[in-house]
Amino acid sequence: MSWPKTADTGVAKASAMPIRVRQATTRDLEHVIALRVALLLEHPDHPVYGRLRPDATERARELYTVQLRSTLEAIFLAEMSNEVVGILRCVDSAGSPLLEPARYGYISSVFVKPAARRRGVLRALLCAAEQWSTERDLDQLRLHNVSGSPQAEGAWSALGFDVVEHVRVRSVKPEGR
Ligand SMILES: CC(C)(COP(=O)(O)OP(=O)(O)OC[C@H]1O[C@@H](n2cnc3c(N)ncnc32)[C@H](O)[C@@H]1OP(=O)(O)O)[C@@H](O)C(=O)NCCC(=O)NCCS
Repeated sequence: MSWPKTADTGVAKASAMPIRVRQATTRDLEHVIALRVALLLEHPDHPVYGRLRPDATERARELYTVQLRSTLEAIFLAEMSNEVVGILRCVDSAGSPLLEPARYGYISSVFVKPAARRRGVLRALLCAAEQWSTERDLDQLRLHNVSGSPQAEGAWSALGFDVVEHVRVRSVKPEGR
């Protein structure tokens, strides 16, 4: 089944208020910027995501426009009462040529506005990404999450994602210099 960028992915009724998920287009650029910059601001002390550039919003405009036009990925938006409340990006990604599967769906940029949390918004977004991935013959989803975040770890565990790897970071600058 084809997946036109403008198509609705349907309505999920995981909470009392219906959640509509649709694939974003370039017309949604401002929503995409707002939600993804809000996600970066959630982790000000994180060694990777906390190092936000002062001109991040301007840089985001060009980067996200390219991503919204790409046919190798989809950015999904969730709406409740016609308000955009959540986002999830899924990229058709290449695996190692030595390993199966050759391609997998990579989930990133997941954010739900605080007032809309714990009402099934992430579950509905993931459902759309799963459908999109299945239609592209992908049979595995992967993601990174911020370690030590009860929300992220609780949500991904509840949604069936196992931890199979850790990302480690350290400075190359020796201490005392
Ligand atoms: C993590 C986040 C996306 C969850 O979104 P959400 O819409 O509230 O999640 P849902 O309501 O769809 O919940 C899905 C499952 O995750 C679990 N879950 C959600 N938030 C949780 C929390 N704070 N603690 C423990 N479990 C949680 C729920 O229990 C639910 O499963 P269940 O209801 O069947 O038991 C949201 O809290 C968020 O945007 N956090 C800040 C940004 C972030 O951490 N993004 C992820 C980066 S990897």
